[in-house]
Amino acid sequence: MSPVPVTRTADELADHLEGVRAGGGAVGFVPTMGALHRGHAALVDAAAAVCDAVVVSVFVNPLQFAPGEDLDAYPRTLDADLALAADHGATVAFVPTVDAMYPEGDDRVAADGVRRVDPGPVALPLEGEGRPTHFAGVAEVVARLFVAVGPCHAFFGEKDFQQLQVVRHLVAALGLPVDVVGCPTVRDADGLALSSRNAYLTPAERAAAPVLHRTLCDGAEAVGRPGWDRATVEADMAAAIAAEPTGALEYVVVVDPTTLLPPEAPEPGDALRLLVACRFGRARLIDNVPALAG
Ligand code: PAF
Repeated sequence: MSPVPVTRTADELADHLEGVRAGGGAVGFVPTMGALHRGHAALVDAAAAVCDAVVVSVFVNPLQFAPGEDLDAYPRTLDADLALAADHGATVAFVPTVDAMYPEGDDRVAADGVRRVDPGPVALPLEGEGRPTHFAGVAEVVARLFVAVGPCHAFFGEKDFQQLQVVRHLVAALGLPVDVVGCPTVRDADGLALSSRNAYLTPAERAAAPVLHRTLCDGAEAVGRPGWDRATVEADMAAAIAAEPTGALEYVVVVDPTTLLPPEAPEPGDALRLLVACRFGRARLIDNVPALAG
């Protein structure tokens, strides 16, 4: 199959979508930073199943990387991305330059406090503590991408659960005509969540990394038992991950899925979310699972 046509500016993209919009068709949108894998493919599949046109954006967003993070090393595989997108039903790619996304200069947007988009309180805990500028950068680019794409159904993976909640917040706060669809995490057979950053893992780290999902599943089982105690479950999960010497744990927590804060007096049957962040060598991995309180 030939790769999808590439548009470089919002105007080109709007021209491309004109026919679908004029006919009342639904537009699906899968925002990505490229290096597409089966997780992204599942998002494109989900969009193609319910939409008449599917836009896949590929843009490595400098604003969501802090100095010293992996912006320069981030894998860039555009030709393969376009082929994968086409295979899974994308109809157009949106691949803007940094200048097209940030005509005022990305350094100025980042440095000057001129950002227009507040990622909201859900951006503050967890990832927000270790990466305090990350979600402001995500919210800024996602809002600009939504403006470029226009009314759409936008598909995000639950692997980046906190990001999904930030996006839901910004759509509600700005009243954007976007239906945000969360899609289940895609995993390798041993449970490791697919991520472009898995490419950084050495064979030994790759062999160790499934401890994250295993531990989250054990934690989800533990919180489902009557009389569970959050501190004990979190400590047990931390100990299980610490037993794996190649990993350096940043956090593993049980939270309310809406606020991402510790749940207040959860009742049996209440929804919870267990989230982890752990570094394996050059790869900083995150993962999460849902749970019901016992
Ligand atoms: O999840 C990602 O790949 C990115 O954070 C996103 C949503 C494309 C924004 O740059």
